[in-house]
Amino acid sequence: MSVITTIEDLRVLAQKRVPRMFYDYADSGSWTESTYRANESDFERIKFRQRVAVNMENRSTRTTMVGQEVAMPLAIAPTGLTGMQHADGEILAARAAKKFGIPFTLSTMSICSIEDVASETGGHPFWFQLYLMRDREFVERLLDRARAANCSALVLTLDLQIIGQRHKDIINGLSAPPKMTIANILNLMTKPAWCLGMLGTRRRNFGNIFGHVKGIENLGSLSEWTQKQFDPRVSWADVAWIRKLWGGKLILKGIQDVEDARIAADSGADALIVSNHGGRQLDGAPSSISALPAIVEAVGRRMEVHMDGGIRSGQSVLKAWALGARGTYIGRSMLYGLGALGEEGVTKALQIIHRELDLTMAFCGHTDIDKADRTILLPGTY
Ligand code: GLV
Repeated sequence: MSVITTIEDLRVLAQKRVPRMFYDYADSGSWTESTYRANESDFERIKFRQRVAVNMENRSTRTTMVGQEVAMPLAIAPTGLTGMQHADGEILAARAAKKFGIPFTLSTMSICSIEDVASETGGHPFWFQLYLMRDREFVERLLDRARAANCSALVLTLDLQIIGQRHKDIINGLSAPPKMTIANILNLMTKPAWCLGMLGTRRRNFGNIFGHVKGIENLGSLSEWTQKQFDPRVSWADVAWIRKLWGGKLILKGIQDVEDARIAADSGADALIVSNHGGRQLDGAPSSISALPAIVEAVGRRMEVHMDGGIRSGQSVLKAWALGARGTYIGRSMLYGLGALGEEGVTKALQIIHRELDLTMAFCGHTDIDKADRTILLPGTY
């Protein structure tokens, strides 16, 4: 295998190793994918100011996110079907995050269950992401399970009451586990390491849901489940209900608009995530990095503003940080590492991003990330 130095190297390797339907599920956006592309490309126009003859010894990227210590301002985003990129994927990614000292967020739509992740990471705290289902008793039980598993923050996703159309998932007939059609069998034959891993685990379906919801025998596709179970009527009253029910740190995910950000701040949540769901929901929405400054301006003094979308390097983490994001998240960058090399690949992704962040901060004349602010960016480029 060639030397891996970038997230793009991991992506290329993941594409070789992961069955097409799951690779495509991760590496796609909705409709024309314009927002998906902009999330990444809009970082490019932002330029740093290089400083020289500054002492660069003893650097630290340590800070906090919602009051919790982190080795860098980066968390692992909740991503659906992570355990389909690699056998036991959520457990492996959670272990890598634990070793690195950053938060891991488990998706409601994960393959490994809340209990699996808790027991396989020695009860280390992780974050849990919630979708509001029509079945509120199921939601209450999920929160009880997350609490019992020592989850130290709840990430409530607000931008997926209905699901965006991703053409590739329709073409590929996405389902977990994959249906044994001729096309799928032919593709799986080219992915022996993935198949071997899957044969060695019992975790091949939605672990948080199977055995916990009556009448769900075969979930099939995520979009089918979403249409039937996700509550399209979600409101700010539900956010208040969840906040009360949970009682712990609450992060609202999927905010793009300043007006919504103000309501989110009024709701009493601890943080919001500026996010367009990785360009997977409303195609044509602005990139997260371009939406970030106005939201920081509007509510940054009242709550922590985080962001996700398009982070493929430590340079992007630092640009978002400089524009006021107190935390960032990686979804695909983690999934590429996982699909490529399992836990080692996720660790590799975190190392790559951390090194880029650390060096870039130093080039910009800082040794402590908490002191780096907007002045590290070239005016007129953001
Ligand atoms: C689920 O969160 C998805 O974007 O597919």
